[in-house]
Amino acid sequence: MTSLPREERLRELGLWPVWVRRGRPAAQPAVGAEQAAGTDIASMDWEALRQAVLACTRCPLHEGRTQGVFGVGDPQAEWLFVGEAPGAEEDRLGEPFVGQAGRLLDAMLASVGLARGENVYIANVLKSRPPGNRDPRPEEVAACLPYLERQIELIRPKVVVALGRIAAQCLLATDAPLGRLRGRVHEYRGLPLVATYHPAYLLRNLADKARAWEDLLLARRVMAGTRPGAGEQS
Ligand code: URA
Repeated sequence: MTSLPREERLRELGLWPVWVRRGRPAAQPAVGAEQAAGTDIASMDWEALRQAVLACTRCPLHEGRTQGVFGVGDPQAEWLFVGEAPGAEEDRLGEPFVGQAGRLLDAMLASVGLARGENVYIANVLKSRPPGNRDPRPEEVAACLPYLERQIELIRPKVVVALGRIAAQCLLATDAPLGRLRGRVHEYRGLPLVATYHPAYLLRNLADKARAWEDLLLARRVMAGTRPGAGEQS
């Protein structure tokens, strides 16, 4: 990972010019009601945050969604899993990872002794479904990431597992490929972060399931305190 300051890294990724600086009047057109009212996402409590996501209009994705998908699980969980964005099923049901990829995620959780809702929280980078499940656009990430950042601040998990390239790159503000990001421990705002393959990718690439399991075992060792340091390899 590059050692550039965060602003510079975001600028390189094309995120900084549309980034909404905390405490500043919003300068870009994609402004939601919560900003018009002067409410700062970074200071919201859990319920205010949930309501803001459900009512969010910060990017055009709200026009095509059925509902915002906030996240699911224990808000005091020690484990946080972060995916990319809701798909069709998630958009319909209002919960992350409830489709085919979600069933694999549940199996992945079970493989390391975890279960959805039991000391586990699951969220996405984007809270609204991109049409046709296309990749999130930089301006959508810039609009939505403050929600996830606040969720992480409030949950204070002991380990963050980024599911797939998009989640890993957004949280680590890097454009490094997932193959270089997985298999070691990163630091996200003082929390250990392990990146692994997205379950939807694993549905198509069964051979990488073993690597994903190694990543989860690494995260479990981090949780157990036997592999505490950022930068460690599996
Ligand atoms: N893929 C994701 O990244 N998140 C979901 O919630 C569902 C599928």
